[in-house]
Amino acid sequence: MSSFGDYLKGQDKEGKEKHTPTIEIVREGENICPLVRITVGKETPHPNTVEHHIKWIDLFGIKKENEQLIHISTFDLGPTIAFPEVSVHVLLDEMESLIAISYCNIHGAWESQVKVMPACRAASLCGAGRV
Ligand SMILES: [Fe+2]
Repeated sequence: MSSFGDYLKGQDKEGKEKHTPTIEIVREGENICPLVRITVGKETPHPNTVEHHIKWIDLFGIKKENEQLIHISTFDLGPTIAFPEVSVHVLLDEMESLIAISYCNIHGAWESQVKVMPACRAASLCGAGRV
């Protein structure tokens, strides 16, 4: 029996069309949480038709402290209307790395991961839910 992870593909499985999400962390100022931008098909745009499109993108974080997987955001995209580039401000102080998964209705689920460098974390005053 296989698991969901067996179906996740990475850059090594790419063909002519590109599906692996590109994750970028953008600092816009000292008092604003970093912006995490995820793009599918950054260099080579992925088709965006009803028949063939990126349906959703999920973003997760891995906590430094205990490697807990944290769901950050889900973006559900409407074909032909929504371009597969999404962004969200994220409180990254406790994050070791970020994982993005994109889903193409024909080619399946694709994963990428980036390490969160200390300069990207920096405590911020964005007001995002600290408990
Ligand atoms: Fe595709």
